[in-house]
Amino acid sequence: MANDPLMGVYSVDDLREIARRKLPRGLFEFIDRGNDDEVAMRDNIEAIARIKLKPRVLADVSTRKLATTVMGREWKMPVGIGPTGSAGLTWYQGEIALAKAAAKAGIPFTLATGSMTAMERVVQEAGGILWFQLYMWPERALSHKLVERARDAGYEALVFTVDTPVAPGREYNLRNGFMIPFKFTRRNVIDVSLHPGWLFSVICKYLVNGGLPKYENFPAHMQTRITALPMGRSMATNPSMSWDDVKALRELWPRQLIIKGIQHPADALKAAELGADAIIISNHGGRVLDSAPPTIDSLPGIVAAVKGRTTILIDSGFRRGADVVKALAMGADAVLLGRAPLYGTAFAGEAGAARVIQLYRDEIDRVMGLIGCRDVADLGPEHIAG
Ligand SMILES: Cc1cc2nc3c(=O)[nH]c(=O)nc-3n(C[C@H](O)[C@H](O)[C@H](O)COP(=O)(O)O)c2cc1C
Repeated sequence: MANDPLMGVYSVDDLREIARRKLPRGLFEFIDRGNDDEVAMRDNIEAIARIKLKPRVLADVSTRKLATTVMGREWKMPVGIGPTGSAGLTWYQGEIALAKAAAKAGIPFTLATGSMTAMERVVQEAGGILWFQLYMWPERALSHKLVERARDAGYEALVFTVDTPVAPGREYNLRNGFMIPFKFTRRNVIDVSLHPGWLFSVICKYLVNGGLPKYENFPAHMQTRITALPMGRSMATNPSMSWDDVKALRELWPRQLIIKGIQHPADALKAAELGADAIIISNHGGRVLDSAPPTIDSLPGIVAAVKGRTTILIDSGFRRGADVVKALAMGADAVLLGRAPLYGTAFAGEAGAARVIQLYRDEIDRVMGLIGCRDVADLGPEHIAG
């Protein structure tokens, strides 16, 4: 495998299938699925697929530029890695694997609050463009301490996730036995024992190196072992979050502030007015509100409301390079990925994550050529079939 740069995988779907076989079902479902009836998750992908690109021909596309400047920083391609709390369960120290792949590819990596690796280690071992994602605990002082820790560790941006004021409904997590709190039921013992590769290469490796993975970025008294809390409910949600929290973070955080989980033009405008350097249009990959619109459908209204006042990032359902090209043509500055890099990390750690990034790079490059566009900065409404 190490000699094969393509690793025998040619699409994100190939990697998803490998991850499905490799991971225990409970963990794979946590990564892969949505919530309730999973309508929002499916709609994200279908809505992007419905949008068509309008090719121009004879445009001399012998050189094509994917690099772009986002919030004053050069990214080697218009794609970044979004926060996912479970990378460290797909691979031993999966967050470091992902962050290294991102750093080598010249794109940002976002470390989630609910990661298994201490934020300082990611800075030391991976470097690159690093962002830290924040959930606001009801006890705000604890979250603010985390913000100070991220600042001292050198993170470039703080990503404040605002779309989960109450816990989402994930029935499959209740059914699949991989939860909550972890009980050694017949079903999940069988599930894990049917995936011995994962058990030995991930869980046993943690065990010999100090114990089961835990939430290394939580305050010491909250660093519960993963087996003591529900999957995806690793922290108390905070229904009292408000715009005052954005104001407070703007005071506290000296660098770039990004608000994640915006879906309404008025909220996008409010975030910009309060000094957010960027917003992420996101429905959490269809994992929170099952009646949420596809993010690509929310994009035009938000672009019209805020274009030029703040940077517009988008995620949820972008599985192909062509999907990224569409979002850029419709006014997004860049796209973030959630599940796709996790499939790659589950397959082969850093090399698998690098393969995912390479797939997007190759596909974006190919699509740019096919639509007659030489520079991602030139993508615009004229490239979208009306
Ligand atoms: C397994 C998993 C864990 C996630 N954990 C977080 C998290 O801790 N914080 C957060 O803001 N978003 C989290 N997300 C949402 C992602 O950042 C992103 O919004 C979403 O996955 C994008 O959709 P995509 O998976 O279709 O690319 C998570 C997503 C997944 C799949």
